[in-house]
Amino acid sequence: SEPRVGASVETVRRVVGLGGEVVVASGAGLRSGILDGEYAAAGGVIVADNAAAVAGADVVLAVRRPAAAELSGVKPGALVIAIADPYGNEAALGEIAQTGVSLFAMELMPRITRAQVMDVLSSQANLAGYRAVIDAAEVFGRAVPMMMTAAGTVPAARVFVMGAGVAGLQAIATARRLGAVVSATDVRPAAKEQVESLGAKFIAVEDEEFKQAETAGGYAKAMSAEYQAKQAALVAAHIAKQDMVITTALIPGRPAPKLVSAEMVAAMKPGSVIVDLAVERGGNVEGAVPGEVVTTANGVSIVGYLNVPGRLAATASQLYAKNLYAFLETLIDKGSKSLAVKWDDELVKATLLTRDGAVVHPNFGGAKAAGDKPEAASAA
Ligand code: NAI
Repeated sequence: SEPRVGASVETVRRVVGLGGEVVVASGAGLRSGILDGEYAAAGGVIVADNAAAVAGADVVLAVRRPAAAELSGVKPGALVIAIADPYGNEAALGEIAQTGVSLFAMELMPRITRAQVMDVLSSQANLAGYRAVIDAAEVFGRAVPMMMTAAGTVPAARVFVMGAGVAGLQAIATARRLGAVVSATDVRPAAKEQVESLGAKFIAVEDEEFKQAETAGGYAKAMSAEYQAKQAALVAAHIAKQDMVITTALIPGRPAPKLVSAEMVAAMKPGSVIVDLAVERGGNVEGAVPGEVVTTANGVSIVGYLNVPGRLAATASQLYAKNLYAFLETLIDKGSKSLAVKWDDELVKATLLTRDGAVVHPNFGGAKAAGDKPEAASAA
């Protein structure tokens, strides 16, 4: 289920240049279009499998959080850097802590200027937003752009994007490039100008709550039941006229907000397509099934593909590897060519989940912090 890889040819070459030895499990890059021989030519050492790759490692670069059992061969205190998916997985974090490694979650990287190059949420969500529109177009039984032919005029498809963060904005841009008529919604007021600057129409309940809906970190807050009801009424009328709906709405550390009800789906035209990019986090769309394309009784397809960035594995790996390298570079002392983690650095503090046998992140059972709300850390 994971075709991506945590190193590109370029990042292997750069780590070797920093004085590191890079060991790659044979075949790790294959589904991202990188052959063992290319890693080897960049200075990597190819070994048989993951177990051999992590044996004796000081640093493990992975796409997803490894199982604790997979880390038995690493050095005590080794650094493991991955998309760690910590929310709701506290038990697995506890098991990893017991291996003694320091586990870092790339997705908890603070959204500050210095860390932009390390932002996996952006690098991967951007690709997911693009791919969602391509996937929708593939399932859609009609053309997307307006076409004027001798045999008649084909109208442009109407695309509605729900959630205009990184994925949603790229979905808007992609749908526009395909020639669709695009509209979008979000609960963060800042999204309005961004949506409009991409040539899409902004649709939202712009009341007092909407004006306060952004955290200091730039994320959405969970909205009140009252707001959600107003939003649903506005969206219901709009959705019925759409050919494609792409949903991308997420709230850090919480289940995805339910935005499209079964009634709304039932009101859509036959042949319309919904892509639920939030399906792994509980889904924005009622009836979306993780990993499947469901067609409803009224002929609406609901696409629930998992790991959508992995559907563009070569590009996703190239960007993810760069995100990892940029962070790794901050953990290395270039003079002595050795690991030198600055434990009080804000990037380290925000992303470090386990250390010295314990879960240390305040949001996951670590030392008490100011608040236990997931947003508190995300907005840090
Ligand atoms: P996300 O993946 O957490 O959520 C996606 C979108 O869903 C967000 O725009 C959110 O407002 C929206 N949403 C949540 N609940 C909703 C609801 N009930 N109805 C409609 N929409 C809803 O967010 P993402 O994409 O990671 O980005 C959030 C913000 O962070 C954006 O403003 C983005 O521009 C900013 N950002 C800043 C960066 C930096 O400064 N380094 C890097 C990347 C993003």
